[in-house]
Amino acid sequence: MDATSKMIYLKDYQQPAYWIKKTDLVFDLNQKHTQVTSTLHIVLNEFKPITTLPVLILDGKDLILKSVRINHEILSDTEYEEIADKLKIQPTEKQFYITIVTELAPHENTTLEGLYQSNGIYCTQCEAEGFRRITYYLDRPDVMAVFTTTLIANQTQYPILLSNGNLVDSATLPDGRHTATWEDPFPKPSYLFAIVAGNLMCHEDAFITKSKRTVLLKIFTEPAYIKECDYAMDALKRAMQWDEEKYGREYDLDIFMIVAIDAFNMGAMENKGLNIFNASCILGDSNTATDSVFQRIESIVGHEYFHNWSGNRVTCRDWFQLSLKEGFTVFRDQSFSADMNASTVQRIQDVNQLRTVQFLEDLGPMAHPVRPEKFIEISNFYTSTIYEKGAEVIRMLSHILGPDLFRKGCDLYFDRHDGEAVTCDDFVAALESVSQLDLIQFKRWYWQAGTPVVQGIGEYDKSEAVYRLHLKQYCPPTPGQIDKLPFVIPIKLGLLGADNQLLPVTESGETETVVLMKKSQHVLIFENISSKPIPSLMRDFSAPITMRFSYTRAELISLIQYDTNEFNRWESMQRLLVSIIHEIYEHIQSNQTIQIDAQLEVLFRALLTQDNHLNWAFLSELFALPTFTYLGSNLPALHIHHLYAARKAVKQHLATTLVDIWYEKYQLLNKITPYYPIAEDIGERSFKNTCLSYIMALQSEESVQLAKQQCVHSNNLTDTLAGLNGLIQSEHPTASVMRQSMLCELNTQWSNQSNLMNYWFSVQASDEKTALKHILELMKHDAFSLTNPNKVRSVIGSFCRTNVVQFHALDRSGYAFLLDTILKLDSINPRMSAALLSPLTQWKRYDALYQVGMKNVLEQILAEKNISVDVFEIISKSLS
Ligand code: BES
Ligand code: ZN
Repeated sequence: MDATSKMIYLKDYQQPAYWIKKTDLVFDLNQKHTQVTSTLHIVLNEFKPITTLPVLILDGKDLILKSVRINHEILSDTEYEEIADKLKIQPTEKQFYITIVTELAPHENTTLEGLYQSNGIYCTQCEAEGFRRITYYLDRPDVMAVFTTTLIANQTQYPILLSNGNLVDSATLPDGRHTATWEDPFPKPSYLFAIVAGNLMCHEDAFITKSKRTVLLKIFTEPAYIKECDYAMDALKRAMQWDEEKYGREYDLDIFMIVAIDAFNMGAMENKGLNIFNASCILGDSNTATDSVFQRIESIVGHEYFHNWSGNRVTCRDWFQLSLKEGFTVFRDQSFSADMNASTVQRIQDVNQLRTVQFLEDLGPMAHPVRPEKFIEISNFYTSTIYEKGAEVIRMLSHILGPDLFRKGCDLYFDRHDGEAVTCDDFVAALESVSQLDLIQFKRWYWQAGTPVVQGIGEYDKSEAVYRLHLKQYCPPTPGQIDKLPFVIPIKLGLLGADNQLLPVTESGETETVVLMKKSQHVLIFENISSKPIPSLMRDFSAPITMRFSYTRAELISLIQYDTNEFNRWESMQRLLVSIIHEIYEHIQSNQTIQIDAQLEVLFRALLTQDNHLNWAFLSELFALPTFTYLGSNLPALHIHHLYAARKAVKQHLATTLVDIWYEKYQLLNKITPYYPIAEDIGERSFKNTCLSYIMALQSEESVQLAKQQCVHSNNLTDTLAGLNGLIQSEHPTASVMRQSMLCELNTQWSNQSNLMNYWFSVQASDEKTALKHILELMKHDAFSLTNPNKVRSVIGSFCRTNVVQFHALDRSGYAFLLDTILKLDSINPRMSAALLSPLTQWKRYDALYQVGMKNVLEQILAEKNISVDVFEIISKSLS
């Protein structure tokens, strides 16, 4: 395999030679094999003059071809060519019908793409290129057809038969079989196709749209989990309502279905009228889902529903435009969640996610623009850059236009392109049309990779009463892009005056302004400033950049206490904590004794004893230490174990010095009340469990008892797991016995519930005391399976990402384990093996102690003969 021959380029995009106008599919689902009969109405694409009809080249993968017919003629095997995953036919007419029969083995399909089985349920996953595993097709998003789908299966084993659109026919057949036919009137690309067949139960409801149409809502699940659909159904109705109110978008079919599936590569998939969800992202009640899982269910139900317009009615021309649907839809689901919950807390969580995952991606070998120019395997490009950075790009556009024009622009985009497959440029063009703005420079956000850095320097002139803010932007090089042009960077800011009040910064006296920085240098001048102010920069994280400004610790403390922008209070606390933890890290690196700045304790105490604590959710974000990954992202030659120790030392210090307060607040909030996953209660539980986690860092016997009490007596999974996590984190001798018996008990209680077993696995695998030996035991557990992605993620994923101490063990045993696992997994499910690679791709950023071992593993995998393209692309980029 070599990288250049496999590469696909945006610049090579061409329209297809033929369109498919109509697709008719018949699935004969049988125990041993499934037969698919596909009849396609093919029409020549007459976009350019031709003299002879071009060859029709259809995509396929791992298919057994049974027969090919054109109109009514069966083709002999000299009349078509089947090579290298393609079916080639020379047409003799400009339009015709082709009927292709293929045979599949879904029960043997472990890739979880195309048609496969999960716990005996047939289901499909077609995005991005899974449809070609079902039948030969023009498997690309710009080919849009109207689909009719017939399923035939045994009635007892597969009583439920589903596909996209509306049910138009069903019948009982001889031999205990039955059939159902579905018709989807909206033309769609193959990646939005789906079928499901199985023994499922259904939770039903209805939604009345703003034009008074009734839409039937159905959530299907394995019978055992039917009681766990209520929350998702409620979230779905709220999402439908929200999209009508905020975007004027109404649902378009008479029925909307969701199916929960246990073995699923991703979180969920937006198939037209038939969303398929990973069971872990849809099912849950007070005993099986935590607060954060409920919030995830809400956002992902919203996300997939919102795709009905941003993705399905208007889709992507090619996969380079993936962010057109994903970035926009993430922006839409983030806005939905912000409206449903505490909006600042939502913003903090979104920014945290962006900075821990996407910023790191930009520092590594896979860095790419929001609209990539080339790729080998599209599956490797469902990245945080496409998703989260893509959402930030839309967010900036929405702020530059303002809410009214942005809404007008979206309306125009949906109207203008309804039923079409379009590009990111088309989206921006619609915004330009309604606003008369020229967004040409802004579009650099789409094609330049990397995280821009803005360096700010403040200069105060007492005699003139002038404050000057000098801003400079640059963007570090990324693979294939050395020099970058300046970005348009919206910088929202305010100035905090000497009396801790915000100063007027505009002519009309407002205390906040947004500056659009367009050049590499920019100076802002503020007049009538009577003393040196503290700038509050990048309020609400107004652009996906790194803002450098050398604040003194005293200045940060003022911002934390008095800034009126809540997001920036949190941001300043993060800056302060990063600087303190990095200082400790330096102490450890140079063998000095650790000295923790005493101002931190004073500040925490002051904040924690202020009397009006209404927003607990915000406070638990405020007192959360920066994530390990974020802390490590800017340190050269990172020593993982030293950074881990530094972060832990600060946690322990805050635990000990503020012990009275953690207990007091814990007691205040620790009341048993009926459980509701609503924002206010979630905030209280979240802060209570923040207190518990500080208390656990005391390592006392008393704290172990407290965690155990909470674990045993709670009436909801959030508190049970927080208690269990407390026991697991504790290094006190009594904790280890208790942990053992607790885990044993929960194993018995939870053994039949797949989602609960995922938690059971992941709390253990994430624990820094869990050595590799125990991971290998977990992998022998009955509930573990290498063919189920949730299990792989909860054991192997948790170990390699969260349990940094053990995974990066200096004897390299963690790396050797990952090598082994990837080689095994790659032939089962390449999407999963590629996903597990990511901790290794950053090897260059680490201390030499780790580098060699990580690099060796990459080299050994690359030397294997039959590795997947997914893994090949990531490793070859990581080693170059
Ligand atoms: N279209 C994707 C799902 C997908 C991606 C399927 C790649 C196959 C390959 C879906 O809309 C999506 O983005 N899902 C996310 C969750 C979402 C809330 C960001 C996921 O599955 O993680
Ligand atoms: Zn999506």
